Amino acid sequence: MIRVATGSDIPSIVEIENLSFDVPWSSRVFRSYADYPGFIVIESDGVILGYAVLVVIKRAAHLASIATHPKYRRMGVATALLEGCVILAKENSYSLIRLEVREKNKTAQEFYLSNGFEVTGSIPNYYPDDNAIVMELDLGR
Ligand SMILES: CC(C)(COP(=O)(O)OP(=O)(O)OC[C@H]1O[C@@H](n2cnc3c(N)ncnc32)[C@H](O)[C@@H]1OP(=O)(O)O)[C@@H](O)C(=O)NCCC(=O)NCCS
Repeated sequence: MIRVATGSDIPSIVEIENLSFDVPWSSRVFRSYADYPGFIVIESDGVILGYAVLVVIKRAAHLASIATHPKYRRMGVATALLEGCVILAKENSYSLIRLEVREKNKTAQEFYLSNGFEVTGSIPNYYPDDNAIVMELDLGR
């Protein structure tokens, strides 16, 4: 089930975050997003498998973060979360979803490419230790 994240999900989300990123977001950042419609989780039998944060920046839908618990990767979890993000973006009349991904994060780039995203640019030194690849998904509107 995909649903909006609430405050009580945050410990599970922080666990996924810490297992997924070298520079994880803090629980404080996630708390600031609690109940925001673009902050979604996928839950199965009471277990949070993954999360995504879709925010609006300059009138474009922006995928700020997405992660799947390492135990549940390659099972379609992030694809399902992305589909949830696409529904949200379309409901709000956005014509594309944009994101930045670390140049070194080839796994995420493969994931986005396999889900229809295209590379549209790069931003040198976007991260303290890496460049960003900019990717976009055309929502066909
Ligand atoms: C990237 C990430 C979110 C993908 O989550 P996931 O739930 O495993 O993704 P899915 O199962 O929906 O994968 C869908 C497709 O993406 C591609 N893909 C996913 N992981 C991949 C990998 N490790 N290597 C190559 N392709 C991959 C495949 O085409 C896959 O389809 P397949 O399993 O049928 O081959 C997950 O690896 C993750 O949490 N990584 C750490 C956090 C991160 O980097 N987030 C992105 C920040 S920009």
